[in-house]
Amino acid sequence: MDTKPIVLTGHRPTGPRHIGHLVGTLTNWVALQDSHACVFLVADLHVLTTDYAHPDQVRANTLEIVFDWLAAGIDPQRACIALQSALPAHAQLAVLLNNLVTVSRLERVPTYKEQTQQLNLQPSTGLLAYPVLQTADILAYKANRVPVGEDQLPHIELAREVARRFNQLYGPTFPEPVGMLSVMPRLPGVDNRTMHTSYGNAIYLRDSEEETTRKVMSMYTDPTRIHPTDPGHIEGNPVFVYHDLFNANGAEVEELKERYVLGKVGDVDVKRRLAAALNATLAPLRERRAEIAAQPERAIEILREGTARARAISQETLELVQERMGLRADEVAGRAPLAI
Ligand code: TRP
Repeated sequence: MDTKPIVLTGHRPTGPRHIGHLVGTLTNWVALQDSHACVFLVADLHVLTTDYAHPDQVRANTLEIVFDWLAAGIDPQRACIALQSALPAHAQLAVLLNNLVTVSRLERVPTYKEQTQQLNLQPSTGLLAYPVLQTADILAYKANRVPVGEDQLPHIELAREVARRFNQLYGPTFPEPVGMLSVMPRLPGVDNRTMHTSYGNAIYLRDSEEETTRKVMSMYTDPTRIHPTDPGHIEGNPVFVYHDLFNANGAEVEELKERYVLGKVGDVDVKRRLAAALNATLAPLRERRAEIAAQPERAIEILREGTARARAISQETLELVQERMGLRADEVAGRAPLAI
């Protein structure tokens, strides 16, 4: 029996993954695969809470995210890659757990407050219940750990509350899931704002070498520096943030920094070396990605197989929850002999 701690996490398929996802989350997920039993969820149901009017986009992004995850090193032999919408137990569990969460509790969730203010529209029931569905995702696997970004911690807090409440009411059933924060700070984009798909400042895993070089050469650097002979600033300079993260040649990075502050190397040169280093780091990912993207039916098969494994586990949890809550779905559905 597998006694490794259980990890459940996921992304909404909202667009291609970028190098910020790589250093912030995917590298961490890849590292967890040996020490944990991992389920990586493509949270397509969650996309619909804000973006239900673009089915073609959802469909395309679902496959793209699987390509990106596999390219980054998620290994379907060791981890389970599963599609949320093909796991009916998640939605069913969410319906049951909805009863344990008040509307006012959900209205106080920071992501909900921010989004309703930003969107400036009447929030849907789906958006309000977003963290309950996420709770169902987590509890369906009795997950112990949930690696997420900081913005997601309030959702994990809700999952903990629900697990506790459920255990109180119906007896010990769920471990209280613990959120795991990535140690990486958020990566700046090429314009020095946070890297974000909607800002147009991201370098994507699917970008070609040429595209990556072009983006690096257009990067924001030290705005106080007009000439290559002006002394430059390292602090808050995204070009050096990237050098530290992606250039495996530490001696070269140190030398560039020394020359930069003295005004002895130009931005163009520093960027050229960065482009070369970043492309070298991304080369094996690109190779894997090209191979996978050339055979989409293989990626679908991986997703199908992972989802089948996840379905068995989540269905078992659902049946346990139904039974504990006094429902007789089990008997009536014919899963056990009728006891009338
Ligand atoms: N809400 C998460 C995000 O936007 C995605 C997600 C869905 C998730 N279900 C989850 C993350 C369960 C962790 C656990 O990033």
